[in-house]
Amino acid sequence: MSAEGIERAAVVGGGVMGNGIAQVLAQAGLTVTLVDVDDAALDRARTRIDKSLARFVKRDRLTEDEAAAVRGRLAFSTDLEATGRTVDHVVETVVEDLDVKRDVLGRLDAVCDPAVVFASNTSQFSISRLAAATSRPDRVIGSHWFNPPPLMDLIEIIRAQQTSDETLATTLALAERYGKQTVVCHKDTPGFITSRLIAHLALEAARIVEEGIATADDVDRACRQAFNHAMGPLETIDFSGLDTTLKVADAMRTQYGERFLAPQNLRSLVAAGHLGRKTGKGFGDYGEAS
Ligand SMILES: NC(=O)c1ccc[n+]([C@@H]2O[C@H](COP(=O)([O-])OP(=O)(O)OC[C@H]3O[C@@H](n4cnc5c(N)ncnc54)[C@H](O)[C@@H]3O)[C@@H](O)[C@H]2O)c1
Repeated sequence: MSAEGIERAAVVGGGVMGNGIAQVLAQAGLTVTLVDVDDAALDRARTRIDKSLARFVKRDRLTEDEAAAVRGRLAFSTDLEATGRTVDHVVETVVEDLDVKRDVLGRLDAVCDPAVVFASNTSQFSISRLAAATSRPDRVIGSHWFNPPPLMDLIEIIRAQQTSDETLATTLALAERYGKQTVVCHKDTPGFITSRLIAHLALEAARIVEEGIATADDVDRACRQAFNHAMGPLETIDFSGLDTTLKVADAMRTQYGERFLAPQNLRSLVAAGHLGRKTGKGFGDYGEAS
């Protein structure tokens, strides 16, 4: 299906990333249903989208009427199959767990029109393995967004072994419709371009803190001020979610070896339920959950 013909999309997974991706698609004029297994996650997503749209209005990037129209194009559901039957595009952004992702894609494959392209927001899993969970492997592709999706300009596109030229072209054209720039990872390799880079930097930053060499704050300031990074690596993973970061590191360690070994301080924070901004505490202290 060509990008111009796409009008109705499902965004599956309403966590840190899903609500922002759903908002971007709705701002681009698509009718979007955000699907999650958890009603509470959908409630949080609705609140986050409302807050984000209010900020867009306050900064004159949207009028009140445009924001209301975006809200009107968004629906929320826990029914994956019913939603899948009605859409002509899918973005999968459920929890970073290969079995859960393969299960979701397989269930969608059974109900979606065969022409529908499935774009996965996985941070590092093999897109080819995800594609193989469906009967449309040529129409599965990696489409890796950055947090927060309404503000970040880039989408990293990952071509699976099986992805067709047409699916790649549709995905690139869709990104343009969303107002995003793209980089293409031509080989389906764990962590692609960006997760490989940020995981490496963030794990080394956590090790520097664990070894008592510097505080988390100073490590982040060093990256901001010495290298002109917009955010330090520990702030970045606090923002992404330390649970997701640990899942990514563990999965990449199985692929690349010890260079992606997660340090104990990251494991301890996750074990204690300190997952970064979403719980109010991680390497930094943020007061309340956001
Ligand atoms: N957090 C980031 O900065 C970031 C950036 C880029 C990509 N990603 C990737 O995006 C994906 C989602 O990450 P996140 O940070 O939003 O995670 P999250 O844990 O905040 O949200 C995941 C959501 O998936 C839902 N879910 C679980 N099983 C489901 C199912 N079977 N059907 C529907 N929903 C289901 C959960 O209820 C939860 O709301 C992951 O693949 C992650 O690697 C995350």
